Amino acid sequence: MHGAPQSPELRVLLTRERIQARVAQMAADISRDYADQSVVLVGVLKGAAIFLSDLARQIQLDATFDFISVSSYGSGKQSSGEVRLNKDVDQSMANKNIILVEDILDTGLTLQFLRRLFLNRAPRSVKIAALLDKKSRRTEPVEADYVGFVIPDEFVVGYGLDYNERYRNLPDICILPPEMQ
Ligand code: PRP
Repeated sequence: MHGAPQSPELRVLLTRERIQARVAQMAADISRDYADQSVVLVGVLKGAAIFLSDLARQIQLDATFDFISVSSYGSGKQSSGEVRLNKDVDQSMANKNIILVEDILDTGLTLQFLRRLFLNRAPRSVKIAALLDKKSRRTEPVEADYVGFVIPDEFVVGYGLDYNERYRNLPDICILPPEMQ
């Protein structure tokens, strides 16, 4: 096996092969939808960094990327219910096709906050690409335009997703059992 060592307690939910295949399809959908236009991929640190880097390399468009940092969870599992902007993007968003790139859409608090923030910046359009969607956890009226996988309400790590900052470098997306949380 290549990549980071994985504890035997972690159960693979989505293999790297399935992830890569789905990311390629998402990139093809985006490339078709924005044909002949430019896009700005805005990654939400830190979780989306790996997804963005894979997605960006498969998108066949004139694309730039930027990163934003917000806090919503603290270090535990529960959302605090508020979102704080820690780092903004570096470029003007006026008249741009913005795609907010997220590893996971959970309650929707983060993306609801970010969508409003970017809609206030006179963009040409704002869409959302989320690799994972925990639909059953949603409390806010926000949906992604491009979704990789709808997943059950399990604690998932790997491919950018962490538990107390660990496991982000696992190539597969795994379920962290309750006794390890
Ligand atoms: C995760 C994830 C989203 C957010 C989703 O980020 O990357 O940004 O939570 O949850 P929500 O839909 O309930 O708002 P986290 O705060 O864990 O930061 P990280 O990306 O640095 O791990």
